Amino acid sequence: MKLQGKTAIITGAGRGLGRCTALAFAREGAKLVLAARSAEEIEHVAEELRALRKEAVAVAVDVSREAEVNRLVQRALDAYGTIDILVNNAGSRGPIGPIQEISLADWEETLRVNLTSAFLCAKAVLPTLMGKKQGKIINVATTLNPRPNLTPYMVAKAGMVQFTKQLSRELKDFHIQVNAVHPGVMDTRMQEEIRSAGPKAIGTDMFDRLKEEGMLHTPAEPARLILYLASAAADGINGEYLSFDDKEVKFLIAHA
Ligand SMILES: NC(=O)c1ccc[n+]([C@@H]2O[C@H](COP(=O)([O-])OP(=O)(O)OC[C@H]3O[C@@H](n4cnc5c(N)ncnc54)[C@H](OP(=O)(O)O)[C@@H]3O)[C@@H](O)[C@H]2O)c1
Repeated sequence: MKLQGKTAIITGAGRGLGRCTALAFAREGAKLVLAARSAEEIEHVAEELRALRKEAVAVAVDVSREAEVNRLVQRALDAYGTIDILVNNAGSRGPIGPIQEISLADWEETLRVNLTSAFLCAKAVLPTLMGKKQGKIINVATTLNPRPNLTPYMVAKAGMVQFTKQLSRELKDFHIQVNAVHPGVMDTRMQEEIRSAGPKAIGTDMFDRLKEEGMLHTPAEPARLILYLASAAADGINGEYLSFDDKEVKFLIAHA
């Protein structure tokens, strides 16, 4: 079991990639703390895990708010006494449209949900990880190729990659590995929302082409990359940005 005895917080664990990562971690022996705003969704995932005789706690929080993140981390410590892994997966697409039509409020909220949340969660778990001189933080980013009409989201996610590099350098003496992933395009609710906004962001044509080229993933596939980075097999990987669409990355996880 790759994560036997480890405790992991996964944000955005109510559906999509977060849910699949929780299932993959639990199968490998991890104890889970599941976070998202929708209590019903995370409780449902926690029940799925308990039905498999796995340990899971669901905590309904908005990870873009500091007090709620602190409550999440305290709940993890109360439940399991420690934290080993943080997966910053929660995200939302933000406004779709040209920059001149984006309000300041939408810009700030999108950066809060997709970038500030990772800072808040990392900051809250670091005293525990630094005290143990071990740990893993995995940040879910996206492609670094520009996607017009999704600017606040893309900027926040690019910031997540630099945040990963900064943090990895600051923490290298503490044996804490921090890495970012691009999960590729996944058929999830977020993708449905982007598609339904029409060809401004990613139209149905593009979506169909991705499918034809085998580049549309189920979230369970890139969850394997997050599992790999959380495991001891990836101890030597730090400050990297790995894309699930990269053949070498696929090879690495297939042979881990
Ligand atoms: N789908 C893709 O093609 C794709 C591509 C590249 C990167 N990604 C990234 O992959 C990650 C997972 O995406 P997904 O496709 O699985 O999306 P999804 O199905 O929409 O799931 C997103 C999860 O994040 C949670 N969340 C959103 N805002 C939150 C907040 N403020 N506080 C707490 N939880 C919050 C959602 O729950 P609540 O709404 O209940 O809070 C949900 O559980 C995201 O970071 C996304 O940006 C996705």
